[in-house]
Amino acid sequence: MAGSVKRRPLIRRVRALIHRLVPKRRAPEEPLEHWEAVWSRNSAVPSRWRISSIPQEVSQAVESGWFPAGASVLDLGCGAGEIAAWLSDRGFKVLGVDFAIAAIEKAKRECEGSGGDLQFQTLDVCGDIPPLIRPSVLIDRGCLHGIRPAAIPRYIRNVTAWCDPGTRYLLFVRIADRGELGKSFDAVVRNVTTALGHSFAISRTGKTYLVQSESGGKSVPGVVFWMVRREVAPGE
Ligand SMILES: C[S@@+](CC[C@H](N)C(=O)[O-])C[C@H]1O[C@@H](n2cnc3c(N)ncnc32)[C@H](O)[C@@H]1O
Repeated sequence: MAGSVKRRPLIRRVRALIHRLVPKRRAPEEPLEHWEAVWSRNSAVPSRWRISSIPQEVSQAVESGWFPAGASVLDLGCGAGEIAAWLSDRGFKVLGVDFAIAAIEKAKRECEGSGGDLQFQTLDVCGDIPPLIRPSVLIDRGCLHGIRPAAIPRYIRNVTAWCDPGTRYLLFVRIADRGELGKSFDAVVRNVTTALGHSFAISRTGKTYLVQSESGGKSVPGVVFWMVRREVAPGE
């Protein structure tokens, strides 16, 4: 009896010590806070999300004419603007939007001098402000899949409202082990079809990589969707 009275305070002290030494699991950062931090880093080592070359699906869409020559392009979650600048160099009228101010500042800084018709706008694709242009091509490489589930209906509302029937939409979604839009190719196709298939006809899907590590780091596989905005359905 006397022993257990003595032990209890010791157990509490040990627990308190463990709590002090082992930090509590942090709540996940808000996406905006996370992306502001990513794009604010002035590191010489680029973020692993920085693209090292233009994805072949983008260059093929240009070469094949699937992106109509000279079209107005809206790049959703454009990051540092590499794809937007590349397209504007090829005669497209491009607007890159991103909700991270640091991304838009970086994009403006790094794409300065690009001769084409290129603009950047700080914009939340789930918000209530429309983009500066009405696009006939949409690109999303890595934006939708990071949006919290509760905000996805607002993303869908906006992409369907911001474009007319016939608009081309090239979407890259990662296959994530954390399960946002799917843990396998088939699950991602199923979930994206459920989310967007009502407003966009999916012409084709394919396997891709959002990050492809050549140095033994972690590659991120994904699914690419080629979609076309359907005629506006009654009640849409
Ligand atoms: C994985 S990065 C991809 C960047 C670029 N598209 C690329 O391919 O390199 C995702 C980008 O989406 C942006 N983003 C995430 N949620 C957004 C939102 N709700 N509105 C606008 N941009 C968003 C992030 O700031 C980030 O720059």
